[in-house]
Amino acid sequence: MSGKFYVTTPIYYVNDRPHIGHAYTTTLADVLASFHRSMGDDTYFLTGTDEHGQKVENAAAKHGISPQQHADETVVRFKELWQQLGITNDDFIRTTEDRHKDVVKEILQDLYDRGEIYKKDYTGWYCVGDERFFTEKDLVDGKCPECGREVTALKESNYFFRMSKYQEWLIDYIQTHPDFIQPAFRANETLGFLKQPLADLCISRPKSRLSWGIELPFDSDYVCYVWFDALINYISAVGYRRDDAAFARRWPASCQLIGKDILTTHSVYWPTMLKAMNVEMPKTIFAHGWWLTGNTKMSKSLGNVVNPMEMIGIVGVDAFRYFLMAEMTLGNDASFTREALMRRYNSDLANDLGNLLSRVVKLTLRAGGIIPAPGEPTGNEEEFNAAVESAVKGMRNCLEEMKLDQGIAAVLSAVRAGNRYVEQCAPWALAKNNDIAHLNTVLYTVAANLRKLAVLLAPVMPGKMAELQKALGSGDELLTIGDLLSGNCPDPAGRTVQEVAPLFPRIQEEEAPAAPAPKAEKKEKAKAAAPAPEAVELVTIDQFCKVKLKTARVVAAEKLEGADKLLKLKIDIGEAEPRPLVAGVAKYYTPEEIMGKTIVVVSNLQPATIRGAESRGMLLAAKFGKELRLVTVDGDVPAGADIG
Ligand code: MSP
Repeated sequence: MSGKFYVTTPIYYVNDRPHIGHAYTTTLADVLASFHRSMGDDTYFLTGTDEHGQKVENAAAKHGISPQQHADETVVRFKELWQQLGITNDDFIRTTEDRHKDVVKEILQDLYDRGEIYKKDYTGWYCVGDERFFTEKDLVDGKCPECGREVTALKESNYFFRMSKYQEWLIDYIQTHPDFIQPAFRANETLGFLKQPLADLCISRPKSRLSWGIELPFDSDYVCYVWFDALINYISAVGYRRDDAAFARRWPASCQLIGKDILTTHSVYWPTMLKAMNVEMPKTIFAHGWWLTGNTKMSKSLGNVVNPMEMIGIVGVDAFRYFLMAEMTLGNDASFTREALMRRYNSDLANDLGNLLSRVVKLTLRAGGIIPAPGEPTGNEEEFNAAVESAVKGMRNCLEEMKLDQGIAAVLSAVRAGNRYVEQCAPWALAKNNDIAHLNTVLYTVAANLRKLAVLLAPVMPGKMAELQKALGSGDELLTIGDLLSGNCPDPAGRTVQEVAPLFPRIQEEEAPAAPAPKAEKKEKAKAAAPAPEAVELVTIDQFCKVKLKTARVVAAEKLEGADKLLKLKIDIGEAEPRPLVAGVAKYYTPEEIMGKTIVVVSNLQPATIRGAESRGMLLAAKFGKELRLVTVDGDVPAGADIG
């Protein structure tokens, strides 16, 4: 192991569906963790959900269920999205878990016993949306300075954390630790904030106003303020007060990723809390910018929130991850448009990267299928080799400086140099002229360099880059960045290339379903448009054949607890064991009605966890108006028969 790396994401509120902002931070953390793993570092990656507080209580009330039930249902959406995005987190913490709540209580008790927390009467202005008190002078035009909404005057007794006493220490710490808050302009923003006297932090909420939280261990009339509870997840998950060895192994975190909107809580509350607890500071808190839809802030009310699942459906998971990483310069805002996504896909991935692979595979197959040892230099190698070398050497710096987009751009520029090299050398002509010495050099150079570039991109596109390495004959042993940096790469010469389908088949603009348009625009369009024939997206026979349909007999059926639309089934599709399958048919079929039916299922769908239940497959049904009927087969057909 060369070092250690502990990366965290903010924990997400379970009051809503995950969107591109959540997908971005988690993918970024995943990419960073994968890079560090690939470099041989002792890596740990934590994400999770923030399940207490007013927002969650309100959302649950809206749905008429308990906050815990609401959290249990919503957390599944996050877990499913992480599965879809290929996220490799080592732990997922929920703040309603005992392992977290118990540690928060101990911390509160300890701080209270040591006089770091005290009780006082307080009059302030409270913003329900932000769950924060403000003083009169904080308000902007009498409204919340954060969100502009109305505030309510409240007088109550509360518990306060003596944050103010750490103000001078914090200023000094930020000034003497330039890596602590990144990018540097966010450190300056925090220092600007700290020019005003820092108030003590109200860390309690009377149960009469909010009951959904961790009860204060020293006063059962109060629960803990959600941010004080939430921030502690970063240490409760890795053994603080429970397992000293585990904690020492992980903490201090190497990189705590946050969005720019939660800077103050992380750059002021969190460090002062840690200081009061006598816990070391994280090495870096990094605030990234926001994804905008075009140039507009994403918001539910505008109806322009980008749904990551939809984008994965258009370009696939790896290309979507690539887009997120390549398109955002860390620290700045970035603009999401469907055009930009398609441009990145078709140009970087289909034209450049995919093309270089298919060229080398086809040419090598024509020459016998084995990557040859290099022959005579053609004289064109220099630019390509230098571009690859620079991408390999530059990646570590780009990571350390959080310039991922630049690291990726260097790889793509090497890929383009590779395509130019192929054009300059014209290996098809070398083959025709039987110039084997030069042909071998070209095939070897492209295969060896492309393999290195695939290793560099593997943390961003793990699936596709593994396919690429395998196409170049790597078998199951995939190279790591550690191998590249130490020069410990087995020679690709002598390996057999594999014929592969295009890694990134070009997507014609018309093929891609439209990205969400703002609501107002949607209405306008609907008004203006004459009734159009239904748009049908055509698939090729190859695409259709990828879907494996089978007959299945329902051998067990029950309602899925906490989900009134879902049934939990067991289906026999001719395998050794019946498979679990969750189906949204509870409104149309009772468990008794569906039992014993022979239905049709997609048998090769990626497994998913739906509301906590495993599901492997999807049944087919016809929907018309408010009705739904299962697709069944004619006559007595055994379970597991192929349909096609
Ligand atoms: N629960 C708190 C965090 C507690 S951490 C101890 C929270 N949750 S959140 O679900 O509202 O937001 C989580 C993250 O999503 C924040 O970092 C926020 O910046 C990020 N994003 C929300 N919208 C975003 C974009 N449009 N673009 C990028 N990230 C954005 O805050």
